[in-house]
Amino acid sequence: MPALTSIQLRNLTTAARKAAGKAYAPYSKFRVGAAVLTGTGRIFVGCNVENASYGLCNCAERTAIFNAVAAGQKVLRAIVVYTPTSTPTPPCGACRQVISEFGPDARIICTCDSPKVIDASLGELLPHAFGTEDMQ
Ligand code: THU
Repeated sequence: MPALTSIQLRNLTTAARKAAGKAYAPYSKFRVGAAVLTGTGRIFVGCNVENASYGLCNCAERTAIFNAVAAGQKVLRAIVVYTPTSTPTPPCGACRQVISEFGPDARIICTCDSPKVIDASLGELLPHAFGTEDMQ
């Protein structure tokens, strides 16, 4: 997969930051935005969407990925996560597994309001991921 260009990275970061503004997080008050870059170069965004039944909360990363898949985009090249915090927020385990389904080689970049960044591959964040090949 081609490396991310600086323009793509900037566009993803801007989109993730904007998406965080749409977060529905009345319970945690923790706003998260995500933007994914698909195999065709398109960007899809998501925010966390919470629910009074807490277990039904959906993370920003999964919202963005499901948004991409609903548009027929099933190859994830990269995902940028933004939180308005002083340290970056890495994707939770469930989101790592969902990223793995569509982007086993995806790059994951977590940004925040300080220069601190997490920049890792899915393989680094979820080694030995469970996948379709494990179900033979
Ligand atoms: N959350 C995300 O959206 N992404 C993450 O990477 C971590 C957690 C959300 C879920 C919930 O709405 C809130 O943050 C607190 O866990």
